[in-house]
Amino acid sequence: MEMQHLKYHMSCCGALLLLCLALAPRQLVLAAPSGPEYLQRGWQRLLEEGESCADCRPEECPPPRGCLAGVVMDHCDCCWECANLEGQICDLDNTNHFYGKCGENLECRLDMGDLREGEVPEPQCMCISNKAVCGSDGKTYPEICKFQEVANARPDAKLNISHEGPCEAAPHIISPPYDIWNVTGEDVIFGCEVFAYPMASIEWRKDGTEMFLPGDDPHISVQFRGGPQKYEVSGWLQIQRVRLTDEGTYHCYARNRHGEVTATATLTVITPDQLNSTTLQLPKPPRHYTEDYSDSEDFDDYY
Ligand SMILES: *[C@@H]1O[C@H](CO)[C@@H](O)[C@H](O)[C@H]1NC(C)=O
Ligand SMILES: *[C@@H]1O[C@H](CO)[C@@H](O)[C@H](O)[C@H]1NC(C)=O
Ligand SMILES: *[C@@H]1O[C@H](CO)[C@@H](O)[C@H](O)[C@H]1NC(C)=O
Repeated sequence: MEMQHLKYHMSCCGALLLLCLALAPRQLVLAAPSGPEYLQRGWQRLLEEGESCADCRPEECPPPRGCLAGVVMDHCDCCWECANLEGQICDLDNTNHFYGKCGENLECRLDMGDLREGEVPEPQCMCISNKAVCGSDGKTYPEICKFQEVANARPDAKLNISHEGPCEAAPHIISPPYDIWNVTGEDVIFGCEVFAYPMASIEWRKDGTEMFLPGDDPHISVQFRGGPQKYEVSGWLQIQRVRLTDEGTYHCYARNRHGEVTATATLTVITPDQLNSTTLQLPKPPRHYTEDYSDSEDFDDYY
């Protein structure tokens, strides 16, 4: 009996291997002769468990709990079990003999992106759509699969989708400007990263002045661009060769037609003499604004 099932699994695995060969001949050749690691792990799991599907008694099935990607039938077609989440390894042939099936709105694909030299792609569950959705909780979810994870995690909340695309709302500050200090003559920069739909404008103002920066001050400049994530915009305020008079409190304002938010940070300017005085207690240098904007196509995400 046991042997029979093993044979069944083996032929199944053969089919999977063929499928892999058809889909990714180059990667498999690279990995020869031992085959992709995920397949080896699958074999190992199969041999260790020696599963058997003999008799199905649905009443003895343990009820699956906390399944964030929903439920699917197990490999014996008998019990419900948790489906695999986005990013989890899965069976390419849409069975669940080794790793399981992907949940709703997910499909099992070989991820060819981000592969390093000699690496073999592993099949993993990926969301069929990368479009944002607006939940009935008023929150924007980057894709339907993330929405489902949250909805499954909080069944009592009875979340559903209000509409496709991001929720329209007042901006939300993802990363505020941080307090900074520096020595006169150095350049300083404040950043302000905002999530907003519709797109927000970002403006800067210094305490004690009515005008938005930079005004006509040539040593101050502002920049604004989309990213780093979808539906985000970032603004920067740069002050070149800071002077003592630049010290003060700066505000970042983000505004769209649904509202305005603000975040505040202070700039402390010291002279080189003060820097030398050992009594001065200075905080650590601030975090630097070096996010990776390479994925962002400026404002494309809005249109
Ligand atoms: C979402 O929930 C509301 C009420 O809770 C209901 O009226 C509406 O039909 C639901 N929409 C979908 C798509 O299920
Ligand atoms: C001061 O500014 C310089 C140049 O902008 C920078 O390299 C340095 O880290 C800053 N110092 C502090 C304490 O932030
Ligand atoms: C700071 O201190 C160092 C050594 O203590 C000295 O060589 C340097 O000239 C000082 N700088 C200023 C601006 O006072």
